[in-house]
Amino acid sequence: MNITMIVAAAENNAIGKNNQMLWKMPNDFKYFKNQTWGLPVLMGRRTYQALKSIALEGRLNIILTRDKKFTAEDSIVVQKIEDALFFAKEHDYNELIVIGGAEIYKLMLPKTTKILLTRIAATFEDADAFFPELSSKEWRMTGEEKFYKDEKNPYDYSFQVWERIK
Ligand SMILES: NC(=O)c1ccc[n+]([C@@H]2O[C@H](COP(=O)([O-])OP(=O)(O)OC[C@H]3O[C@@H](n4cnc5c(N)ncnc54)[C@H](OP(=O)(O)O)[C@@H]3O)[C@@H](O)[C@H]2O)c1
Repeated sequence: MNITMIVAAAENNAIGKNNQMLWKMPNDFKYFKNQTWGLPVLMGRRTYQALKSIALEGRLNIILTRDKKFTAEDSIVVQKIEDALFFAKEHDYNELIVIGGAEIYKLMLPKTTKILLTRIAATFEDADAFFPELSSKEWRMTGEEKFYKDEKNPYDYSFQVWERIK
């Protein structure tokens, strides 16, 4: 199973605060939708709740929680990563997309081979959720497309592809 992450992170790796996103960037939202559409997505229980407990349409949603009583009618709920991989495989996928949040990114990073990182050109000192620092010994950026802010997207941003080298 190939494991890919998708994340939007500020320059200080901030990704959220109070279980919310820190920005509204419609172009990144479209990119996220395009990159994940039709694929299984793995998220932590808190990120699912940040999505107002509604599964992302057009994707097999898998939620990771330690709570054995947690249920979600529109998603698969698992307590272990191995079970998430099992369900993705059972649905005939060979790729699983990790969509956050901070705890799940940290947990899944050692198993991940590709990261789709939207770098937001801003810093959020008061964030409480962060993407892990990528070691230059393990990760190399293999693609980047830069965009300027506009009337709908308040920050400059770039769509980066990172691949594991070790
Ligand atoms: N910028 C972005 O691209 C992006 C993307 C996604 C999320 N976010 C942001 O990230 C923040 C949420 O991140 P977070 O770290 O607080 O929460 P999270 O990673 O979404 O979810 C954490 C939960 O996952 C479960 N969990 C963690 N490790 C586990 C393990 N080893 N086994 C089983 N279950 C496990 C636990 O659920 P239980 O407590 O139920 O046991 C834990 O509370 C929000 O601010 C959100 O907006 C940002």
